[in-house]
Amino acid sequence: MNAKSVVTNGVGLPALPLVTVSPGTIQTCTFLDDQSVDAIAVGVGAPVFGDDELQPRSGTVHASARYRIDLAELAERAHFKAAAGTTHIVDLPRVHRGSGAVLPWQGLPLRIVIVGVGTGSDADLRKAGAALARVSRGLGKVVTTVTGRSDDRGTAHFVEGYLLSAYQPWSIAGRDPGPAPADELVLLGPNAQEAVDVATRHSQLTWLSRDLAAVPPNLKTPNWLANQFEKIAASADLTVRRWDGGELEQAGFTTIAAVGRGSQNPPVFLEVSYVPAQASEKHVVLVGKGVTFDTGGISIKRPRESMIDMKTDMTGAAVAFSAVLGAAQSKVGHRVTALLPIVENHFGKDSYRPGDILTSYGGTTIEIGNTDAEGRLIMADALEYAVAELEPDLIVDVATLTGAAAMTLGASHGALFTNDSELANSFLAAGAETGERLWHMPLTPDYAVGLESQIADVRNIPQTPLGGGATLAAMFLESFVSKTPWVHLDIAGPSLSAKVSHEINKGPTGFGARVITRFLETW
Ligand code: BES
Ligand code: MN
Ligand code: ZN
Repeated sequence: MNAKSVVTNGVGLPALPLVTVSPGTIQTCTFLDDQSVDAIAVGVGAPVFGDDELQPRSGTVHASARYRIDLAELAERAHFKAAAGTTHIVDLPRVHRGSGAVLPWQGLPLRIVIVGVGTGSDADLRKAGAALARVSRGLGKVVTTVTGRSDDRGTAHFVEGYLLSAYQPWSIAGRDPGPAPADELVLLGPNAQEAVDVATRHSQLTWLSRDLAAVPPNLKTPNWLANQFEKIAASADLTVRRWDGGELEQAGFTTIAAVGRGSQNPPVFLEVSYVPAQASEKHVVLVGKGVTFDTGGISIKRPRESMIDMKTDMTGAAVAFSAVLGAAQSKVGHRVTALLPIVENHFGKDSYRPGDILTSYGGTTIEIGNTDAEGRLIMADALEYAVAELEPDLIVDVATLTGAAAMTLGASHGALFTNDSELANSFLAAGAETGERLWHMPLTPDYAVGLESQIADVRNIPQTPLGGGATLAAMFLESFVSKTPWVHLDIAGPSLSAKVSHEINKGPTGFGARVITRFLETW
Protein backbone atom coordinates (compact mmCIF):
# COMPACT_ATOMS: atom_id res chain seq x y z
CA MET A 1 0.00 0.00 0.00
CA ASN A 2 1.15 3.53 -0.74
CA ALA A 3 2.46 4.80 2.59
CA LYS A 4 1.12 8.26 1.82
CA SER A 5 -2.43 6.97 1.65
CA VAL A 6 -2.32 5.89 5.26
CA VAL A 7 -2.50 8.27 8.20
CA THR A 8 -0.54 6.93 11.11
CA ASN A 9 -1.53 9.22 13.94
CA GLY A 10 -3.45 7.60 16.75
CA VAL A 11 -6.15 9.13 18.88
CA GLY A 12 -5.36 9.32 22.57
CA LEU A 13 -6.89 11.27 25.41
CA PRO A 14 -7.15 14.79 23.98
CA ALA A 15 -5.44 17.72 25.70
CA LEU A 16 -8.04 20.35 26.59
CA PRO A 17 -7.43 24.08 26.82
CA LEU A 18 -6.33 25.33 30.20
CA VAL A 19 -8.94 26.64 32.63
CA THR A 20 -7.63 28.02 35.94
CA VAL A 21 -9.21 29.64 38.96
CA SER A 22 -8.07 32.76 40.75
CA PRO A 23 -9.58 34.51 43.77
CA GLY A 24 -10.72 38.11 43.68
CA THR A 25 -12.79 40.39 41.48
CA ILE A 26 -12.17 42.56 38.44
CA GLN A 27 -11.74 45.47 40.85
CA THR A 28 -9.14 43.78 43.04
CA CYS A 29 -7.38 41.62 40.45
CA THR A 30 -3.67 42.48 40.48
CA PHE A 31 -2.64 41.02 37.12
CA LEU A 32 -5.25 42.72 34.94
CA ASP A 33 -2.91 45.57 34.06
CA ASP A 34 0.34 43.62 33.69
CA GLN A 35 -0.22 43.21 29.92
CA SER A 36 -0.62 39.43 30.20
CA VAL A 37 -4.39 39.47 29.65
CA ASP A 38 -5.92 39.79 26.16
CA ALA A 39 -9.55 40.16 27.16
CA ILE A 40 -11.94 40.15 30.06
CA ALA A 41 -15.39 38.61 29.84
CA VAL A 42 -18.27 39.67 32.06
CA GLY A 43 -21.87 38.50 32.31
CA VAL A 44 -25.17 40.23 31.73
CA GLY A 45 -28.53 38.60 32.39
CA ALA A 46 -31.56 39.03 30.16
CA PRO A 47 -34.37 41.34 31.33
CA VAL A 48 -36.73 39.58 33.70
CA PHE A 49 -40.37 39.17 32.68
CA GLY A 50 -42.34 42.42 32.65
CA ASP A 51 -39.20 44.55 32.51
CA ASP A 52 -36.80 45.63 29.78
CA GLU A 53 -33.68 46.33 31.85
CA LEU A 54 -30.58 44.19 31.30
CA GLN A 55 -29.34 42.49 34.47
CA PRO A 56 -25.62 43.21 34.79
CA ARG A 57 -23.88 40.55 36.91
CA SER A 58 -21.40 41.58 39.60
CA GLY A 59 -18.42 41.22 37.23
CA THR A 60 -19.96 43.77 34.89
CA VAL A 61 -20.48 46.18 37.75
CA HIS A 62 -16.88 45.72 38.96
CA ALA A 63 -15.51 46.14 35.46
CA SER A 64 -17.56 49.30 34.99
CA ALA A 65 -16.02 50.67 38.17
CA ARG A 66 -12.46 49.70 37.28
CA TYR A 67 -12.64 50.87 33.66
CA ARG A 68 -14.83 53.83 34.61
CA ILE A 69 -17.27 53.05 31.78
CA ASP A 70 -20.98 52.24 32.02
CA LEU A 71 -20.80 48.84 30.35
CA ALA A 72 -24.48 48.01 30.75
CA GLU A 73 -25.48 51.25 29.05
CA LEU A 74 -23.01 50.53 26.26
CA ALA A 75 -24.56 47.12 25.75
CA GLU A 76 -28.06 48.53 25.78
CA ARG A 77 -27.14 51.18 23.25
CA ALA A 78 -25.99 48.36 20.94
CA HIS A 79 -29.42 46.72 21.41
CA PHE A 80 -27.78 43.79 23.20
CA LYS A 81 -30.53 41.62 24.67
CA ALA A 82 -28.26 39.33 26.75
CA ALA A 83 -29.84 36.17 25.37
CA ALA A 84 -27.78 33.17 26.42
CA GLY A 85 -25.11 32.44 23.86
CA THR A 86 -24.87 35.97 22.48
CA THR A 87 -21.95 38.33 23.05
CA HIS A 88 -21.24 42.01 22.59
CA ILE A 89 -17.59 42.88 22.14
CA VAL A 90 -16.24 46.21 23.28
CA ASP A 91 -12.83 47.04 21.80
CA LEU A 92 -11.53 50.08 23.60
CA PRO A 93 -9.37 52.66 21.83
CA ARG A 94 -5.86 53.80 22.74
CA VAL A 95 -4.97 57.47 22.87
CA HIS A 96 -3.51 59.19 19.87
CA ARG A 97 0.25 59.04 20.31
CA GLY A 98 1.64 62.37 21.37
CA SER A 99 -1.69 63.78 22.46
CA GLY A 100 -0.68 63.49 26.08
CA ALA A 101 -4.18 62.31 27.06
CA VAL A 102 -4.64 59.51 29.58
CA LEU A 103 -7.66 57.24 29.26
CA PRO A 104 -9.27 55.80 32.38
CA TRP A 105 -8.61 52.22 31.21
CA GLN A 106 -4.88 52.86 30.68
CA GLY A 107 -2.97 49.57 31.05
CA LEU A 108 -6.08 47.38 31.26
CA PRO A 109 -7.04 44.77 28.62
CA LEU A 110 -8.57 46.63 25.67
CA ARG A 111 -11.10 43.93 24.83
CA ILE A 112 -14.19 43.46 26.98
CA VAL A 113 -16.56 40.65 26.04
CA ILE A 114 -20.04 41.12 27.40
CA VAL A 115 -21.58 37.67 27.56
CA GLY A 116 -25.33 37.12 27.66
CA VAL A 117 -26.25 34.58 30.34
CA GLY A 118 -30.01 34.64 29.70
CA THR A 119 -31.80 33.46 32.83
CA GLY A 120 -28.64 31.91 34.33
CA SER A 121 -30.07 28.39 34.08
CA ASP A 122 -27.76 25.39 33.59
CA ALA A 123 -28.46 25.33 29.87
CA ASP A 124 -28.02 29.10 29.56
CA LEU A 125 -24.67 28.98 31.34
CA ARG A 126 -23.47 26.26 28.95
CA LYS A 127 -24.52 28.50 26.06
CA ALA A 128 -22.68 31.44 27.62
CA GLY A 129 -19.53 29.34 28.00
CA ALA A 130 -19.83 28.11 24.43
CA ALA A 131 -20.19 31.68 23.13
CA LEU A 132 -17.13 32.81 25.05
CA ALA A 133 -15.09 29.95 23.59
CA ARG A 134 -16.06 30.99 20.07
CA VAL A 135 -15.10 34.64 20.48
CA SER A 136 -11.87 33.95 22.36
CA ARG A 137 -10.27 31.65 19.77
CA GLY A 138 -6.83 32.84 18.81
CA LEU A 139 -6.35 34.83 22.04
CA GLY A 140 -3.83 34.22 24.83
CA LYS A 141 -5.14 34.74 28.34
CA VAL A 142 -8.81 35.56 28.95
CA VAL A 143 -10.11 36.48 32.40
CA THR A 144 -13.79 35.95 33.16
CA THR A 145 -16.35 36.42 35.89
CA VAL A 146 -19.17 34.80 33.92
CA THR A 147 -19.13 31.68 36.06
CA GLY A 148 -22.74 32.43 36.75
CA ARG A 149 -24.47 31.58 39.97
CA SER A 150 -22.90 31.34 43.37
CA ASP A 151 -23.07 27.52 43.32
CA ASP A 152 -20.37 25.29 41.88
CA ARG A 153 -22.79 23.53 39.54
CA GLY A 154 -23.27 26.81 37.69
CA THR A 155 -19.53 27.08 37.22
CA ALA A 156 -19.33 23.49 36.03
CA HIS A 157 -21.99 24.14 33.37
CA PHE A 158 -20.31 27.32 32.21
CA VAL A 159 -16.90 25.64 31.94
CA GLU A 160 -18.39 22.59 30.26
CA GLY A 161 -20.04 24.79 27.64
CA TYR A 162 -16.74 26.57 27.15
CA LEU A 163 -14.67 23.39 26.77
CA LEU A 164 -17.19 21.60 24.53
CA SER A 165 -17.34 24.61 22.22
CA ALA A 166 -13.54 24.96 22.27
CA TYR A 167 -13.32 21.53 20.60
CA GLN A 168 -10.62 21.29 17.95
CA PRO A 169 -11.97 18.84 15.36
CA TRP A 170 -9.83 15.83 14.63
CA SER A 171 -8.12 16.27 11.28
CA ILE A 172 -5.52 14.55 9.22
CA ALA A 173 -1.92 15.03 10.39
CA GLY A 174 -0.27 18.14 8.97
CA ARG A 175 -3.49 20.00 8.26
CA ASP A 176 -3.92 23.47 9.76
CA PRO A 177 -6.56 22.97 12.46
CA GLY A 178 -7.62 26.65 12.40
CA PRO A 179 -7.57 29.15 15.28
CA ALA A 180 -6.95 27.45 18.61
CA PRO A 181 -8.97 28.17 21.75
CA ALA A 182 -7.51 30.76 24.11
CA ASP A 183 -4.32 29.58 25.84
CA GLU A 184 -5.85 30.09 29.26
CA LEU A 185 -9.23 30.95 30.67
CA VAL A 186 -8.96 32.35 34.19
CA LEU A 187 -12.10 32.11 36.32
CA LEU A 188 -12.07 35.01 38.71
CA GLY A 189 -14.03 34.46 41.90
CA PRO A 190 -14.71 31.92 44.61
CA ASN A 191 -12.61 28.77 44.42
CA ALA A 192 -14.27 26.48 41.91
CA GLN A 193 -11.43 24.07 41.21
CA GLU A 194 -13.58 21.00 41.76
CA ALA A 195 -16.26 22.24 39.36
CA VAL A 196 -13.54 22.90 36.78
CA ASP A 197 -12.12 19.40 37.25
CA VAL A 198 -15.52 17.75 36.75
CA ALA A 199 -16.29 19.85 33.68
CA THR A 200 -12.86 19.14 32.23
CA ARG A 201 -13.18 15.38 32.72
CA HIS A 202 -16.65 15.25 31.19
CA SER A 203 -15.66 17.45 28.26
CA GLN A 204 -12.58 15.35 27.62
CA LEU A 205 -14.74 12.22 27.35
CA THR A 206 -16.87 13.99 24.76
CA TRP A 207 -13.80 15.25 22.85
CA LEU A 208 -12.44 11.70 22.78
CA SER A 209 -15.71 10.29 21.43
CA ARG A 210 -15.91 13.02 18.78
CA ASP A 211 -12.30 12.40 17.73
CA LEU A 212 -12.76 8.66 17.37
CA ALA A 213 -15.98 9.06 15.37
CA ALA A 214 -14.28 11.56 13.03
CA VAL A 215 -11.43 9.24 12.02
CA PRO A 216 -11.94 7.94 8.46
CA PRO A 217 -12.91 4.32 8.02
CA ASN A 218 -9.82 3.31 6.02
CA LEU A 219 -7.71 4.14 9.07
CA LYS A 220 -10.31 3.18 11.67
CA THR A 221 -10.32 -0.57 11.20
CA PRO A 222 -11.71 -2.65 14.08
CA ASN A 223 -8.14 -3.53 15.05
CA TRP A 224 -7.08 0.12 15.04
CA LEU A 225 -10.09 1.22 17.11
CA ALA A 226 -9.58 -1.59 19.62
CA ASN A 227 -5.91 -0.58 19.90
CA GLN A 228 -6.84 3.01 20.73
CA PHE A 229 -9.21 1.80 23.46
CA GLU A 230 -6.54 -0.54 24.83
CA LYS A 231 -3.91 2.18 24.91
CA ILE A 232 -6.14 4.61 26.78
CA ALA A 233 -7.35 1.87 29.15
CA ALA A 234 -3.75 1.03 30.02
CA SER A 235 -3.18 4.63 31.13
CA ALA A 236 -6.25 4.47 33.40
CA ASP A 237 -7.46 2.05 36.07
CA LEU A 238 -9.07 -0.24 33.51
CA THR A 239 -8.43 -3.84 32.55
CA VAL A 240 -9.11 -5.21 29.07
CA ARG A 241 -9.97 -8.63 27.69
CA ARG A 242 -9.78 -8.97 23.94
CA TRP A 243 -10.98 -11.51 21.37
CA ASP A 244 -9.66 -11.27 17.80
CA GLY A 245 -10.59 -12.96 14.51
CA GLY A 246 -10.89 -16.72 14.96
CA GLU A 247 -11.03 -16.45 18.76
CA LEU A 248 -14.47 -14.91 18.41
CA GLU A 249 -16.12 -17.97 16.88
CA GLN A 250 -14.25 -20.23 19.27
CA ALA A 251 -15.61 -18.31 22.24
CA GLY A 252 -19.15 -18.43 20.80
CA PHE A 253 -19.43 -14.85 19.54
CA THR A 254 -21.11 -15.99 16.34
CA THR A 255 -23.05 -12.87 15.40
CA ILE A 256 -20.00 -10.64 15.83
CA ALA A 257 -17.94 -13.02 13.69
CA ALA A 258 -20.68 -13.28 11.05
CA VAL A 259 -21.24 -9.54 10.64
CA GLY A 260 -17.48 -8.99 10.51
CA ARG A 261 -16.82 -11.71 7.93
CA GLY A 262 -17.55 -9.56 4.87
CA SER A 263 -14.65 -7.25 5.61
CA GLN A 264 -10.90 -7.59 5.04
CA ASN A 265 -10.54 -6.07 8.49
CA PRO A 266 -11.39 -8.71 11.07
CA PRO A 267 -13.73 -8.00 13.99
CA VAL A 268 -12.67 -7.54 17.61
CA PHE A 269 -14.57 -7.90 20.88
CA LEU A 270 -13.35 -5.92 23.90
CA GLU A 271 -14.34 -6.18 27.54
CA VAL A 272 -13.15 -3.11 29.45
CA SER A 273 -13.59 -3.28 33.22
CA TYR A 274 -13.43 -0.89 36.09
CA VAL A 275 -13.43 -2.38 39.59
CA PRO A 276 -13.57 0.09 42.50
CA ALA A 277 -10.94 -0.16 45.23
CA GLN A 278 -13.68 -0.86 47.75
CA ALA A 279 -15.14 -3.95 46.11
CA SER A 280 -18.85 -3.50 45.55
CA GLU A 281 -21.52 -6.07 44.72
CA LYS A 282 -23.23 -3.82 42.18
CA HIS A 283 -22.28 -4.17 38.55
CA VAL A 284 -23.32 -2.05 35.56
CA VAL A 285 -22.57 -3.46 32.13
CA LEU A 286 -22.44 -1.06 29.19
CA VAL A 287 -22.72 -2.35 25.64
CA GLY A 288 -21.66 -0.06 22.78
CA LYS A 289 -22.20 -0.65 19.06
CA GLY A 290 -18.83 -0.46 17.34
CA VAL A 291 -19.43 -0.57 13.58
CA THR A 292 -16.38 1.17 12.08
CA PHE A 293 -18.15 1.45 8.74
CA ASP A 294 -21.63 0.34 7.72
CA THR A 295 -22.09 -0.37 4.01
CA GLY A 296 -25.25 -2.30 4.84
CA GLY A 297 -23.50 -5.50 3.80
CA ILE A 298 -25.13 -7.56 1.01
CA SER A 299 -28.34 -5.58 1.66
CA ILE A 300 -26.34 -2.55 0.57
CA LYS A 301 -27.50 0.87 1.73
CA ARG A 302 -29.89 2.89 -0.37
CA PRO A 303 -29.74 5.70 -1.25
CA ARG A 304 -25.96 5.64 -1.43
CA GLU A 305 -25.78 9.07 0.25
CA SER A 306 -27.00 7.39 3.44
CA MET A 307 -23.65 5.59 3.61
CA ILE A 308 -21.53 8.73 3.74
CA ASP A 309 -21.60 9.25 7.51
CA MET A 310 -21.35 5.58 8.42
CA LYS A 311 -17.81 5.92 9.79
CA THR A 312 -19.60 7.30 12.87
CA ASP A 313 -21.52 4.03 13.37
CA MET A 314 -19.07 3.20 16.19
CA THR A 315 -20.16 6.15 18.33
CA GLY A 316 -21.90 3.79 20.77
CA ALA A 317 -18.63 1.97 21.44
CA ALA A 318 -16.75 5.26 21.80
CA VAL A 319 -19.21 6.65 24.34
CA ALA A 320 -19.53 3.36 26.26
CA PHE A 321 -15.74 3.28 26.52
CA SER A 322 -15.68 6.95 27.55
CA ALA A 323 -18.27 6.26 30.24
CA VAL A 324 -16.33 3.39 31.82
CA LEU A 325 -13.27 5.62 31.70
CA GLY A 326 -15.30 8.41 33.30
CA ALA A 327 -16.50 6.03 36.01
CA ALA A 328 -12.89 5.14 36.80
CA GLN A 329 -11.81 8.78 36.81
CA SER A 330 -14.52 9.79 39.24
CA LYS A 331 -14.03 6.56 41.20
CA VAL A 332 -17.68 5.51 41.32
CA GLY A 333 -18.52 2.96 43.99
CA HIS A 334 -19.73 0.11 41.76
CA ARG A 335 -18.22 -2.08 39.07
CA VAL A 336 -18.60 -0.94 35.48
CA THR A 337 -17.80 -3.08 32.44
CA ALA A 338 -18.01 -1.90 28.84
CA LEU A 339 -18.56 -4.57 26.18
CA LEU A 340 -17.50 -3.35 22.76
CA PRO A 341 -18.24 -5.48 19.69
CA ILE A 342 -16.22 -3.83 16.91
CA VAL A 343 -16.78 -4.78 13.28
CA GLU A 344 -16.87 -3.41 9.77
CA ASN A 345 -20.16 -4.28 8.03
CA HIS A 346 -18.99 -4.87 4.47
CA PHE A 347 -19.92 -7.08 1.55
CA GLY A 348 -17.60 -9.70 0.10
CA LYS A 349 -17.45 -13.34 -0.84
CA ASP A 350 -17.59 -14.39 2.81
CA SER A 351 -20.35 -11.98 3.87
CA TYR A 352 -23.29 -13.20 5.85
CA ARG A 353 -26.46 -13.10 3.77
CA PRO A 354 -30.12 -12.21 4.01
CA GLY A 355 -31.72 -15.60 4.66
CA ASP A 356 -28.88 -16.94 6.84
CA ILE A 357 -29.63 -18.20 10.33
CA LEU A 358 -27.06 -17.32 13.00
CA THR A 359 -26.83 -18.90 16.43
CA SER A 360 -25.86 -16.24 18.96
CA TYR A 361 -23.65 -16.55 22.04
CA GLY A 362 -26.56 -17.67 24.21
CA GLY A 363 -27.92 -20.12 21.64
CA THR A 364 -30.68 -17.95 20.16
CA THR A 365 -31.26 -18.65 16.47
CA ILE A 366 -31.67 -15.47 14.40
CA GLU A 367 -32.99 -15.39 10.87
CA ILE A 368 -31.42 -12.58 8.88
CA GLY A 369 -33.91 -10.48 6.94
CA ASN A 370 -31.52 -7.65 6.17
CA THR A 371 -27.76 -7.45 6.67
CA ASP A 372 -28.07 -3.70 7.27
CA ALA A 373 -29.74 -4.41 10.62
CA GLU A 374 -26.27 -5.45 11.85
CA GLY A 375 -26.00 -3.40 15.02
CA ARG A 376 -28.68 -5.36 16.87
CA LEU A 377 -26.91 -8.60 15.85
CA ILE A 378 -23.50 -7.80 17.29
CA MET A 379 -25.22 -6.33 20.36
CA ALA A 380 -27.12 -9.62 20.83
CA ASP A 381 -23.90 -11.58 21.41
CA ALA A 382 -22.64 -8.95 23.83
CA LEU A 383 -25.94 -8.79 25.76
CA GLU A 384 -26.11 -12.57 26.13
CA TYR A 385 -22.47 -12.69 27.20
CA ALA A 386 -23.22 -10.04 29.85
CA VAL A 387 -26.19 -12.00 31.19
CA ALA A 388 -24.37 -15.35 31.14
CA GLU A 389 -20.97 -14.30 32.50
CA LEU A 390 -21.02 -10.93 34.26
CA GLU A 391 -23.92 -11.00 36.74
CA PRO A 392 -25.08 -7.51 35.80
CA ASP A 393 -27.46 -5.58 38.05
CA LEU A 394 -28.11 -3.29 35.14
CA ILE A 395 -27.34 -3.28 31.42
CA VAL A 396 -27.11 -0.01 29.49
CA ASP A 397 -26.64 -0.28 25.75
CA VAL A 398 -25.91 2.58 23.42
CA ALA A 399 -25.97 2.48 19.64
CA THR A 400 -26.47 4.42 16.44
CA LEU A 401 -29.07 1.78 15.82
CA THR A 402 -31.84 3.01 13.53
CA GLY A 403 -32.52 5.65 10.94
CA ALA A 404 -36.05 5.58 12.35
CA ALA A 405 -34.88 7.08 15.67
CA ALA A 406 -33.05 9.83 13.79
CA MET A 407 -36.13 10.42 11.63
CA THR A 408 -38.41 10.68 14.67
CA LEU A 409 -36.38 12.82 17.04
CA GLY A 410 -33.87 14.52 14.79
CA ALA A 411 -30.56 15.55 16.34
CA SER A 412 -32.00 17.10 19.52
CA HIS A 413 -32.76 13.97 21.55
CA GLY A 414 -31.53 10.44 21.97
CA ALA A 415 -34.23 7.75 22.08
CA LEU A 416 -34.50 6.13 25.51
CA PHE A 417 -36.06 2.68 25.87
CA THR A 418 -36.26 0.73 29.12
CA ASN A 419 -38.22 -1.92 30.97
CA ASP A 420 -37.87 0.01 34.27
CA SER A 421 -39.61 3.35 34.95
CA GLU A 422 -37.24 4.37 37.76
CA LEU A 423 -34.27 3.94 35.43
CA ALA A 424 -36.12 5.98 32.82
CA ASN A 425 -36.42 8.85 35.28
CA SER A 426 -32.75 8.65 36.29
CA PHE A 427 -31.66 8.79 32.67
CA LEU A 428 -34.06 11.62 31.83
CA ALA A 429 -32.63 13.55 34.78
CA ALA A 430 -29.02 12.88 33.74
CA GLY A 431 -29.95 13.96 30.23
CA ALA A 432 -31.52 17.20 31.40
CA GLU A 433 -28.53 17.95 33.58
CA THR A 434 -25.85 17.32 30.97
CA GLY A 435 -27.80 18.81 28.07
CA GLU A 436 -27.64 15.45 26.28
CA ARG A 437 -31.41 15.24 26.16
CA LEU A 438 -33.28 11.96 25.96
CA TRP A 439 -36.87 11.18 25.08
CA HIS A 440 -38.65 8.22 26.64
CA MET A 441 -40.01 5.95 23.91
CA PRO A 442 -42.43 3.03 24.27
CA LEU A 443 -41.75 -0.67 24.01
CA THR A 444 -44.90 -1.95 22.34
CA PRO A 445 -45.70 -5.64 22.91
CA ASP A 446 -48.16 -5.61 19.98
CA TYR A 447 -45.21 -5.22 17.65
CA ALA A 448 -43.48 -8.40 18.87
CA VAL A 449 -45.02 -10.38 15.99
CA GLY A 450 -42.68 -8.42 13.74
CA LEU A 451 -39.73 -10.27 15.19
CA GLU A 452 -41.22 -13.75 14.76
CA SER A 453 -39.59 -16.18 12.34
CA GLN A 454 -41.09 -19.35 10.82
CA ILE A 455 -37.77 -21.18 11.01
CA ALA A 456 -35.76 -19.61 13.86
CA ASP A 457 -36.27 -18.05 17.30
CA VAL A 458 -36.30 -14.47 15.95
CA ARG A 459 -35.82 -12.40 12.82
CA ASN A 460 -33.65 -9.28 12.80
CA ILE A 461 -36.29 -7.31 10.83
CA PRO A 462 -39.98 -7.99 10.17
CA GLN A 463 -40.92 -9.99 7.10
CA THR A 464 -43.35 -7.27 6.05
CA PRO A 465 -42.73 -3.66 7.08
CA LEU A 466 -44.64 -2.63 10.21
CA GLY A 467 -43.20 0.82 10.94
CA GLY A 468 -41.94 1.56 14.43
CA GLY A 469 -38.36 0.77 13.41
CA ALA A 470 -36.66 2.16 16.51
CA THR A 471 -39.09 0.38 18.84
CA LEU A 472 -38.73 -2.93 17.01
CA ALA A 473 -34.94 -2.70 17.17
CA ALA A 474 -35.19 -1.97 20.91
CA MET A 475 -37.51 -4.95 21.41
CA PHE A 476 -35.10 -7.16 19.51
CA LEU A 477 -32.37 -6.17 21.98
CA GLU A 478 -34.72 -6.59 24.94
CA SER A 479 -35.21 -10.24 23.99
CA PHE A 480 -31.50 -10.84 24.76
CA VAL A 481 -31.30 -9.34 28.26
CA SER A 482 -33.47 -11.91 30.02
CA LYS A 483 -34.88 -10.32 33.21
CA THR A 484 -32.00 -7.90 33.77
CA PRO A 485 -32.94 -4.24 34.30
CA TRP A 486 -32.02 -2.66 31.01
CA VAL A 487 -31.75 0.71 29.28
CA HIS A 488 -31.28 1.18 25.55
CA LEU A 489 -30.14 4.48 24.03
CA ASP A 490 -30.58 4.86 20.28
CA ILE A 491 -28.33 7.81 19.46
CA ALA A 492 -28.53 7.65 15.64
CA GLY A 493 -29.96 11.21 15.52
CA PRO A 494 -27.84 13.28 17.92
CA SER A 495 -24.54 11.47 17.22
CA LEU A 496 -24.01 13.75 14.26
CA SER A 497 -24.78 17.45 13.90
CA ALA A 498 -25.18 19.34 10.64
CA LYS A 499 -24.31 22.66 12.28
CA VAL A 500 -22.73 24.34 15.28
CA SER A 501 -25.30 24.93 17.99
CA HIS A 502 -23.91 26.39 21.22
CA GLU A 503 -21.84 23.63 22.87
CA ILE A 504 -22.67 21.17 20.08
CA ASN A 505 -20.04 21.09 17.35
CA LYS A 506 -20.60 20.40 13.68
CA GLY A 507 -19.87 16.77 12.78
CA PRO A 508 -19.62 13.83 15.18
CA THR A 509 -20.88 15.07 18.56
CA GLY A 510 -19.85 12.29 20.93
CA PHE A 511 -23.44 12.28 22.22
CA GLY A 512 -23.91 9.93 25.14
CA ALA A 513 -20.53 10.16 26.89
CA ARG A 514 -21.72 12.75 29.39
CA VAL A 515 -25.24 11.48 30.03
CA ILE A 516 -24.04 7.92 30.71
CA THR A 517 -21.11 9.08 32.83
CA ARG A 518 -23.40 11.36 34.83
CA PHE A 519 -25.85 8.49 35.29
CA LEU A 520 -23.04 6.22 36.56
CA GLU A 521 -21.90 8.91 38.99
CA THR A 522 -25.35 9.23 40.51
CA TRP A 523 -26.65 5.63 40.33
N1 BES B 1 -26.22 2.36 11.34
C1 BES B 1 -27.54 2.25 10.85
C2 BES B 1 -28.50 3.23 11.50
C3 BES B 1 -28.26 4.70 11.24
C4 BES B 1 -28.94 5.35 10.24
C5 BES B 1 -27.41 5.42 12.04
C6 BES B 1 -28.76 6.70 10.03
C7 BES B 1 -27.22 6.78 11.83
C8 BES B 1 -27.90 7.43 10.83
C9 BES B 1 -28.08 0.84 11.10
O1 BES B 1 -27.14 -0.17 11.07
C10 BES B 1 -29.06 0.55 10.01
O2 BES B 1 -28.63 0.42 8.90
N2 BES B 1 -30.34 0.45 10.35
C11 BES B 1 -31.34 0.20 9.38
C12 BES B 1 -32.23 -0.89 9.93
C13 BES B 1 -33.19 -1.44 8.91
C14 BES B 1 -32.45 -2.26 7.89
C15 BES B 1 -34.22 -2.28 9.62
C16 BES B 1 -32.13 1.49 9.19
O3 BES B 1 -32.35 2.21 10.15
O4 BES B 1 -32.48 1.79 8.05
MN1 MN C 1 -26.78 -0.95 9.16
ZN1 ZN D 1 -25.22 0.36 11.53
